Amino acid sequence: MSIDIEQYRIRTEPYYEAQGDEIALYQAAYDERLPVMIKGPTGCGKSRFVEYMAWKLDRPLITVACNEDMTASDLVGRYLLDATGTRWLDGPLTTAARIGAICYLDEIVEARQDTTVVIHPLTDHRRTLPLDKKGELVDAHPDFQMVISYNPGYQSLMKDLKQSTKQRFSAMIFDYPESALEAGIVATETGTETETAGLLVKIATSARNLKGHGLDEGISTRLLVYAARLIKRGIEPRAACRMALVDPITDDADIRSTLHHAIDVVFGV
Ligand SMILES: Nc1ncnc2c1ncn2[C@@H]1O[C@H](COP(=O)(O)OP(=O)(O)OP(=O)(O)O)[C@@H](O)[C@H]1O
Ligand SMILES: [Mg+2]
Repeated sequence: MSIDIEQYRIRTEPYYEAQGDEIALYQAAYDERLPVMIKGPTGCGKSRFVEYMAWKLDRPLITVACNEDMTASDLVGRYLLDATGTRWLDGPLTTAARIGAICYLDEIVEARQDTTVVIHPLTDHRRTLPLDKKGELVDAHPDFQMVISYNPGYQSLMKDLKQSTKQRFSAMIFDYPESALEAGIVATETGTETETAGLLVKIATSARNLKGHGLDEGISTRLLVYAARLIKRGIEPRAACRMALVDPITDDADIRSTLHHAIDVVFGV
């Protein structure tokens, strides 16, 4: 059975603004076919970076959003029953290993540990994937690479990777970009003026200081992009900020009013 690789190819260059030397580091890891783990808060650019690298390396990208109900069969594949009998269907991990894709397991800590271990033989020197039910041992294509990401912030002790999983990966730590760069990203991504984008970043910066003091997470770059898009639509900036930056992230009335006040100050009311 042949697989159409083209459907997994990223055709147009994703917009990605580098924060440091992450492109060169990832390139070197890929050249060595080292598995990579990317850690960082929500909405800071992890997925965008992986898409950009897949495009730059000209590899197909297969992304799996992990969750706690996911089983090893969801990754590896299963027999399906149809009119003619049973038929094996590869899961996304198997497809990626066969075609030499970059396989991206997003929010890997959400998966149960007994699911996560299926990636072990693919992420060490063996580079193989045993399909136990089918009795087949898949040798990974030479171009295959594994990348995982997660947000260490949400993690409870119950939701951590085993050391034996961690120690099969190289790691990159991501965070929100520094102010000027983040404003540039928001402006380029949305077409808003850099000055407005800069004001949005200012609000995010003050909110990020509240992390651990009433806020679980700071305001992400993703939410700044949302706010900028609302403003571009003609929504009054303070209303846009309340809708995109504050109200989604907290149910605490005091924190909300602190942040609403910060918005008023930044937009000069
Ligand atoms: N360095 C960057 N270059 C370009 N756009 C960026 C960058 N960082 C963040 N963004 C913007 O922020 C948005 C969110 O980024 P992304 O989806 O990659 O976050 P994430 O880290 O994968 O978050 P999550 O953990 O929630 O999946 C992107 O859609 C993009 O608009
Ligand atoms: Mg993501």
